[in-house]
Amino acid sequence: DRSLKIAPSILSADFADFGREIRAIEDQGADWVHVDVMDGHFVPNLTFGPPAVKAFRRHVTTVMDVHLMIAPVDPYIEAYAQAGADILTAHVEAGPHPHRTLQAIRASGMKAGLALNPGTPASAAEPLLDLCDLVCVMTVNPGFGGQSFIHSCVDKVRALRAMIGDRPVHIEIDGGVDPTTAPLVREAGADVLVAGSAVFKGGSVETPEAYGTNMRAI
Ligand code: DX5
Ligand code: ZN
Repeated sequence: DRSLKIAPSILSADFADFGREIRAIEDQGADWVHVDVMDGHFVPNLTFGPPAVKAFRRHVTTVMDVHLMIAPVDPYIEAYAQAGADILTAHVEAGPHPHRTLQAIRASGMKAGLALNPGTPASAAEPLLDLCDLVCVMTVNPGFGGQSFIHSCVDKVRALRAMIGDRPVHIEIDGGVDPTTAPLVREAGADVLVAGSAVFKGGSVETPEAYGTNMRAI
């Protein structure tokens, strides 16, 4: 299914009110909920781990899309399966054995995603595509919300869509997605758009209609 899916990133939500924030974005039409896990090592920021993700699960009724920005990945895969992740995405740069990691994610019963940093070419994904349900093209350097979209990544999206061919693999875009950049990556072949600041700006759990307006603008 390559229809457009909007995946708000709760990295831009109120960290003291995740349950209400998740319900608010889903009420306003979010297709998936994107959860950014950071370890202060693979990326220079820290967010949350398996117990928090398990608590989010109680509020997510759509698809819980968990993006791991951690290294190593393999020791934590089972914990994210137990936490209820539907899709678990690991970075190709996170270690020497991304093939093993993708196999392990599927063996734990989740869909497997592979993320590529802006400095990593599309060719890094090519030998792994049969093990992927999703390829996440980072259009900022991972670690923080609210950064500017890196335009040179658009050609990589086009190359990946050609490489994927008939395989049922989503292309997800993560970083700097807004009403200006979204059409560029849609046209290049992306179907899942993560958006943090562009969805949550100007709204709150008290005024969630703003989230809906922001999502429809993307
Ligand atoms: C960045 C995260 C993103 C982030 C996107 O490291 O992976 O998911 O929340 O935020 P925006 O949409 O504000 O660039
Ligand atoms: Zn992310």
